[in-house]
Amino acid sequence: SLLTGALGGTFLLAAGCGNPVDTVGQVDFSRPLLIPPLARSTVDGDGQRVFTLHAQPGQRDFGIDGTTRTFGFNGDYLGPTLRARRGERVRVDVVNNLDEDTSVHWHGMHLPARMDGGPHQPVRPGATWSPTWTVNQPAATLWYHPHPHGRTREQVNQGLAGMFILDDDDPTQRALPHDYGVDDIPVIVQDKDIHGGRIRNQKTGNLLLVNGTYAPYLTVVTDRVRLRLLNASVSRVYAFGLADQRPVHLVATDGGRLAAPVPLSRIRLSPGERAEIVVPVHAGERVALRSFPPELGGKSFETGRDQFDVLDLRAAATLRRSANLPADFGELPRLDPATAVTTRDFRLTGTNINGDEMDMDRIDAVTTLGTTEIWTVRNTDGQRHNFHVHDVQFRVLSIDGAAPPAELSGWKDTVFLPPKSAARLIMKFADYADPELPYMYHCHLLMHEDDGMMGQFVVVEPGQSAGRISGVGAHE
Ligand code: C2O
Ligand code: CU
Repeated sequence: SLLTGALGGTFLLAAGCGNPVDTVGQVDFSRPLLIPPLARSTVDGDGQRVFTLHAQPGQRDFGIDGTTRTFGFNGDYLGPTLRARRGERVRVDVVNNLDEDTSVHWHGMHLPARMDGGPHQPVRPGATWSPTWTVNQPAATLWYHPHPHGRTREQVNQGLAGMFILDDDDPTQRALPHDYGVDDIPVIVQDKDIHGGRIRNQKTGNLLLVNGTYAPYLTVVTDRVRLRLLNASVSRVYAFGLADQRPVHLVATDGGRLAAPVPLSRIRLSPGERAEIVVPVHAGERVALRSFPPELGGKSFETGRDQFDVLDLRAAATLRRSANLPADFGELPRLDPATAVTTRDFRLTGTNINGDEMDMDRIDAVTTLGTTEIWTVRNTDGQRHNFHVHDVQFRVLSIDGAAPPAELSGWKDTVFLPPKSAARLIMKFADYADPELPYMYHCHLLMHEDDGMMGQFVVVEPGQSAGRISGVGAHE
């Protein structure tokens, strides 16, 4: 059985990692994995699919420390899975039943800035905010979470987060396991510090929740299961794989499918990142989804102690056969570096980007609709960061000057930056311009984001300049 639990000591703490996850003794993986329900929706007279999300306080007995105070959407912890198809018009009525401001950001979604749910769209207590947009991107595993200025970590950590699955007509989606909750499973991973009936606002916790379930197992009924992995933690980085290190297939990253399934034994995810993997299982077996010490670009700060099981997969005695995985899914469109009109540099250090901390009234970058840019993002620190860009899905051109590994070959909206590393990203700003409302880019380690490691960019029409920022939240 498993290692860990013993104190990692100052070595781990100095690396900014914090508590090792404690899986000693108490973890019997005896709780069935909770599957977030699919959100109900109605189609209104204009053909819009309408969802309702209530951000609300709650309490939950995780089986850890009695009853814990929490936040959730439409429930006591996390939220339902929203699901919509490419081309569909959606509206989400976000109702704030908390007694503090919140907002809801659609992480990974390509949509107008005023629908983005960032810090300029606060939803006041008692108010309802109703963004609407047309789904305009490939099938993908996205997610939603609050993004209020300076309070993202607190609210996400209390339980405000959920998955947003997009579908499309690409034949890949039918070739992959796609029966939600049966062979297509959301896996929302969060480490927690739970104490005295509260989720504490620490960088890391020593307890692991999956979909809000402590020590979960999943009964597998097909010989392949698709796991939609989401790292919704404050700052922990995971390297997911099967305990026996059998190869799994990575089929999609943040923005959707890859060109072909990539066999690998581990996939590293920093906060905000997603990966869809297809796992082969044998009848009757038990095998754990494990987190291994993540590699940090040649130099690992982690020890073998930071290794723990996440989810116990228990295969039924007889399994239904799944469709074979296609050898390839089809090329992805390219973004050609030769077409880039601008190269920008972003240096992440301490709590700032290029020396500046987040200022709600400052626009840090003005981009032009219809153009492609290359962004070089550099972690000049001794600690970990990552980099998330709203509005776009980007491609990774290089990591530390080298071609990216296969797992970074597809659409991404968040990229991990180990200490002293650099990534070159290429992205195109399309469809939506608004000179007065910025999108965010930031480190998705939530304490860094809240502490100021965030900047703002607007997309303007050719020839236009940025205007004065005008927030458009919901006040009643
Ligand atoms: Cu997941 Cu700016 O956020
Ligand atoms: Cu950071």
